Amino acid sequence: MIPFLTDAPLEELAARIDAPFYLYDGPAMVAHARELRAALPSCVDLLYCVKANANRSLVELLVPEVQGLDVSSGGELAFMRGLGIPGPFMSFAGPGKSLPELSLAIRERASISVESETELHRIVSVASQKGTKASIAIRVNPKHTSKLFGMRMGGQASAFGVPEEDAAAVVRQAIASPHIDLDGLHVFAGTQCLEASALAENARQTLDLAAALMTETGASFRHVNLGGGFGVPYFEGQPDLAPEVGGAAIAGVLEDRRLQDTRFSQMRFVLELGRFFVGRFGAYVARVIDVKETRGKRIVVLDGGMNHVFPATGNFGQLVKKNYPIVNLSRVDDPCLQDVVGPLCTPIDSLAREAVLPRCRIGDAIAFLHVGAYSYAASPLLFLGHPTPQELLWNGVDARVVRPSFTMGHFA
Ligand SMILES: Cc1ncc(COP(=O)(O)O)c(C=O)c1O
Repeated sequence: MIPFLTDAPLEELAARIDAPFYLYDGPAMVAHARELRAALPSCVDLLYCVKANANRSLVELLVPEVQGLDVSSGGELAFMRGLGIPGPFMSFAGPGKSLPELSLAIRERASISVESETELHRIVSVASQKGTKASIAIRVNPKHTSKLFGMRMGGQASAFGVPEEDAAAVVRQAIASPHIDLDGLHVFAGTQCLEASALAENARQTLDLAAALMTETGASFRHVNLGGGFGVPYFEGQPDLAPEVGGAAIAGVLEDRRLQDTRFSQMRFVLELGRFFVGRFGAYVARVIDVKETRGKRIVVLDGGMNHVFPATGNFGQLVKKNYPIVNLSRVDDPCLQDVVGPLCTPIDSLAREAVLPRCRIGDAIAFLHVGAYSYAASPLLFLGHPTPQELLWNGVDARVVRPSFTMGHFA
């Protein structure tokens, strides 16, 4: 069983708080971010990718711990500006940025990761209409990505970034434009990697790519965004990646490179991480509303399902469905094999298959662990019109609601 790596008293909270809810452990999240920061040299800037979890209270907790935010839409950018976060603190990546989104990013002086040659042309056109310069990084899709990255965005034909073989031409165009300030290179080739050696190799490859591009084009990048890909163990048997181990792996690569190649000695390096900051510090709790014994199976029906915690269905980046860590918070005895499903009228709403859990009864509180990232944020919350889960933040003493439940229609 993968433990819930926080001090928040989940059983006690589940006994008195209306489920379904998410609980995030603030102090544990901050302590973990600090451990990573302490393992990295000062030439590294850490960005929090808000797409993992854009809950305002979590973002506000993490902002003092990082050197920037990675945003993926005009909505995220505008929301963060609304929280008072300055545009230059943000980096904006994504393969389909609209003209209004580019215009907003340029106006707010966010750094734009350019994902294609045609996007570069659109940025030049918007910046020239405004009579200004856009600050950009060229995002490159490398030829290879390690198989130890559980989810890969690079190393194959993909929508993400300029293919490595075309990168020099795009860099030259950027250098030639009076409306572009070419600040850096960005390689985000994959994520969900739990092996420090693979993270180090990925960073080495990105630095090789940066060196080759600088030699070929004469560009001098002020920063290289190494991507990240620090993973979270979701399933039995997966290794854990401690912040000091992941941080030390990257630190070692940078130290060597800065000694070997003076072009890197004044450069800044970026790691952009989402799940690593928040993933293991969130739990989702729902209640059993029915139990069915049918055709040799015991099926436990919860009052929240894929509409609240979509990745548990196995449809968010998993090749083969595996069960997330799941706990019956209401009892500890009589374990047996059970399938756990949500309340939606679709077979996709299957959250755990043949999970060994204390025999669930109606009213029991069931928790899914390690769901702080891409869970609330990536779930079809309105599908079937059930109320959304409330979100609570544990502060070390108590939990407070940081986003209430909302419903499509009120009923008694
Ligand atoms: C460009 C980019 N940066 C950062 C991330 C964050 O990844 P993770 O949350 O796995 O760290 C992603 C995830 O899809 C991404 O596409």
